[in-house]
Amino acid sequence: MNNLDAYRAAGNPMFNDNRFKLGIFGSNCSNACAMTLAETSFEPTLESNLEIAGILEDGGWECMVPIARWRGFGGPSNFNGNCMETYTWAAALAARTSNIFLFATSHVPTVHPIVAAKMGTTIDRISKGRFGINMVCGWFTPEMEMFGVKMMEHDTRYEYATEWVEIVEKLWTEQWFDYDGQFLTIKGGFADPKPYQKPRPLLISAGSSPKGRKFAAKYCDINFSVIEEDGLDRAANWIKEVRADAQKNYNRDIGTFTYSYCVVRDTEKEARDYYNYYVHEKGDWEAADNVCKIFGVESGSYSKDYMDKFRANFIAGWGGYPLVGTPEQVVDRIAELSATGVDGSLISFVDYNQELPYFNERVMPLLEQAGLRKPHRRPAAR
Ligand SMILES: Cc1cc2nc3c(=O)[nH]c(=O)nc-3n(C[C@H](O)[C@H](O)[C@H](O)COP(=O)(O)O)c2cc1C
Repeated sequence: MNNLDAYRAAGNPMFNDNRFKLGIFGSNCSNACAMTLAETSFEPTLESNLEIAGILEDGGWECMVPIARWRGFGGPSNFNGNCMETYTWAAALAARTSNIFLFATSHVPTVHPIVAAKMGTTIDRISKGRFGINMVCGWFTPEMEMFGVKMMEHDTRYEYATEWVEIVEKLWTEQWFDYDGQFLTIKGGFADPKPYQKPRPLLISAGSSPKGRKFAAKYCDINFSVIEEDGLDRAANWIKEVRADAQKNYNRDIGTFTYSYCVVRDTEKEARDYYNYYVHEKGDWEAADNVCKIFGVESGSYSKDYMDKFRANFIAGWGGYPLVGTPEQVVDRIAELSATGVDGSLISFVDYNQELPYFNERVMPLLEQAGLRKPHRRPAAR
């Protein structure tokens, strides 16, 4: 049996029969994915997130993925500086939602795997099988060094993550085991109860380096990656390669997801005007500069045009795929993404609470007509 079949059989939304699945990204974090000082009603509070989750469930969306962040990126907005911790965020939403799949995003070096497995099991049971962990290794050095440890070398981070995930999986599926790794040692590993989902809660990862992709192919159920605007062919290759690696070397299957940002309005002009407003007029270019420096993309090595475009795309939505235009144009762009073979996308908006109802009303029916999603019946009142 395919390793994903148990999830399909259990009705897991991440493997449902919608050809293109949808989630949102970053609603636990101030400004989510948009580095801007534009006015917004969105706040990273429980009340706001409950409202968002309700709108997503009404529209039949599949999931919510939070951002793991321990300090902001500076600039006048201190981008992402105000943020809810993601396991506790997921636990709170799990108790108050019915259908949406919830992830915690976990920097593996910051949480002991016994604690992560226990928290994961607890949220999985509260949500009755709607929980997974997005494993991230950490790349923002001041954030990781705030914990008083030296940042590991890139590939070493994945070696640490390998031991971490092997222990978490054992705690979810076995009893009384020892583990003797290079970084982590477990004596008489025990965890009771076990998770609600069988064989275990979902594991996802956004590794995109060769080491990161290998890690995903071996341990994860879904690999996330950015798809650049001019990178649809590269995306199709990534999907083929990661699936082939999982199948050939680990005898397992793996899903794929990307992320995008959306500005959808009645007319293209309104959408473009709003994009220009929040990116060019109100963008937090200082925060974007800080992020570019961390990624090693500095003006010294690139042309001004390249840098401006790169920064603008980060300001607009963390460098995701642009979905800007009318409902019809947004559906066309989603169809382009789907044609690469990717299973779905997380989407970010400047103002989730205000913009999601319009997406549900205007974009969802067109996605159904285009065969990208099955007709969704709004759930009975909660
Ligand atoms: C959808 C998505 C979500 C991510 N979420 C976070 C996050 O919340 N916190 C974080 O530090 N990194 C996050 N990352 C960054 C990844 O963990 C990872 O560092 C990046 O994709 C590079 O992987 P690589 O080192 O294998 O190339 C995210 C990446 C993607 C694509």
